Amino acid sequence: MIVGNWKMNLTIHEASLYVHKLASKVKGHRNVEVVLAPSLLSLPTLSLQVERRQFKLAAQNFYWQDEGAFTGEISAHQLRGLVEYAIIGHSERRHIFGEHDKDIRAKVQAAVRHSLTPILCVGETAHERTAGETNGVLHDQVVGGLANLTAEEVAGIVIAYEPVWAIGTGNNATPADVENAVKLIRRQVEHLYGGDIAASVRILYGGSVSADNASSYLTTPGVDGLLPGGSSLKADEFSAIVEAAHKAGKK
Ligand code: PGA
Repeated sequence: MIVGNWKMNLTIHEASLYVHKLASKVKGHRNVEVVLAPSLLSLPTLSLQVERRQFKLAAQNFYWQDEGAFTGEISAHQLRGLVEYAIIGHSERRHIFGEHDKDIRAKVQAAVRHSLTPILCVGETAHERTAGETNGVLHDQVVGGLANLTAEEVAGIVIAYEPVWAIGTGNNATPADVENAVKLIRRQVEHLYGGDIAASVRILYGGSVSADNASSYLTTPGVDGLLPGGSSLKADEFSAIVEAAHKAGKK
């Protein structure tokens, strides 16, 4: 699974042109699910434009209430039908917009309630890493994000390990770091919901992923895909990452 997080980039018109270009470059492979997370503004246009067998769509954010007096917000209920996935708990939401585990948990529940698959992002800051707190942070974010879900609901979700220090810095984590973190996350899910559920949860890596380093993660045990940000905005590079996933999946 490859999820391109475009963040706050591209106007509606630019997004539409970009998807047109991307569609000719990204080959449809049955073993790779390709998901695009454009700005919310572009979703209605792109949801009509994309061929769902080639690209699925994700929301980058939403509010957990279904409707009401929440100026400026949009809900999972309103996203229904436009997107299949929703990114929840991205470090930029946690650190720039002050979202906490309880907000993230409410969003995960709202997504599931409206049949959107959560892509729950977890990851430690540089400071937490230096202080040796990585395992504790991942534990708290996984438990905090998934609490109140049934085993059946957890089975379908996606978790992304995104160490904050690796995002947008060019300082990507080593495959060994990613392997350890992914093992820990899966063990945590297993502890809460059992081995079968833990095996079915897809776990991605994100943080300065590029066409050059993608294969090293895609061949790392336990990693089911990638969540590139910056490199998802370059059509050649993004399609090369999808190709790398296709090749890794065949092995
Ligand atoms: P990056 O972003 O690939 O630009 O580091 C990843 C992310 O924030 O999901």
